[in-house]
Amino acid sequence: MTYSVAVAGASGYAGGELLRLLAAHPEFEVRTVTGHSTAGQPLIATQPHLRSLAHLTLGETTPEVLDGHDIVFFALPHGASGALTAQLSNVRLAVDCGADHRLTDAADWAAFYGGEHHEAWSYGVPELIVTDAATSGQTRQRDALIGAPRIAAPGCNASTVALSLAPGIAAGVIAPDDIVTVLAVGPSGAGKAAKTHLLGAELMGTANPYAVGGTHRHIPEIQQSLRRAGARGDVTLSFTPVLVPMSRGILATSTAKLAPGVSASEVRAAWETAYADEPFVHVLPDGEFPRTADTLGANTCLMGLAIDEAAGRVVVVAALDNLAKGTAGAAIQSANIALGLPESTGLSVNGVAP
Ligand SMILES: NC(=O)c1ccc[n+]([C@@H]2O[C@H](COP(=O)([O-])OP(=O)(O)OC[C@H]3O[C@@H](n4cnc5c(N)ncnc54)[C@H](OP(=O)(O)O)[C@@H]3O)[C@@H](O)[C@H]2O)c1
Repeated sequence: MTYSVAVAGASGYAGGELLRLLAAHPEFEVRTVTGHSTAGQPLIATQPHLRSLAHLTLGETTPEVLDGHDIVFFALPHGASGALTAQLSNVRLAVDCGADHRLTDAADWAAFYGGEHHEAWSYGVPELIVTDAATSGQTRQRDALIGAPRIAAPGCNASTVALSLAPGIAAGVIAPDDIVTVLAVGPSGAGKAAKTHLLGAELMGTANPYAVGGTHRHIPEIQQSLRRAGARGDVTLSFTPVLVPMSRGILATSTAKLAPGVSASEVRAAWETAYADEPFVHVLPDGEFPRTADTLGANTCLMGLAIDEAAGRVVVVAALDNLAKGTAGAAIQSANIALGLPESTGLSVNGVAP
């Protein structure tokens, strides 16, 4: 069966990456693409790398245009999709790459985003460990995606950090109350709309910290994921992103206190066991650490870990492509699961190098 697909926000970065991957997906056919200021233009005027979709024209982003497709992917600024998605009556599967349906707690939404809080949808990070608070039994987030009609794809930084630390939290080998994470991020994570601080002249040859001091919007999303993974008590997180001059990519260095008495081999085993059977999340051998370059264009998250004995902390370094595994790849992987397709359909573990 071929599923009809619409992509809203098709002129943006996340929309463009969705389309690049969807164009190679054997079960999905992109029939409709929509924009906002670019509506009416040929898709290829805004996405000149997508030659196989040159026949498409950007329509208006309205419920009437989007309704009736089997699948609709939304790649709109946060706040723009919540109202739209509520008006869809005939869409089997909607996947939102924005934040509108990620947070379960309205107070978190009010504190970090503001405006109307919309219901949380099934979270699109299939590999995340989920620990049942009552039984301590563990499942994966993919179980919650099977047959799901509505999916919230993750924030790219949020999924990188949650994937980095969930194995240690779930195994009880790290504490959740003193997490520190610093991320080198490429500016495509901030979208395509023109902003002065994202001009080439402001970015080249320099590293720019932003959202310093606990203000970044991905903080509550990470806390939510780590609580689901089994964190007992408060999840406290110091989170500092730094814009660096690479178009795509996230390199997140996260550290957390080791639980008393755990050995280095127990710590390493927690991560290796957690991801041993995962097609898209790979733990590197002891002593090896990932580079963002090795994940570009791939639906892959690579991570390496070390024990800092003197500091009593685990150090996890994780790399992924914010547009691929961080957004569009996660969205398509989750859609595959929801529809009962093989999870890796249309997705590649291989990146582009150099
Ligand atoms: N970039 C990433 O790495 C990344 C990662 C994870 C999640 N996300 C999320 O994905 C969403 C899209 O991000 P992006 O980076 O692709 O942003 P972007 O490059 O700025 O693209 C935004 C898209 O939304 C459209 N748009 C703008 N304002 C709109 C409105 N009021 N109503 C309807 N459509 C509107 C734009 O259309 P026009 O171009 O025609 O104006 C464009 O197609 C965001 O919610 C973002 O948080 C992005």
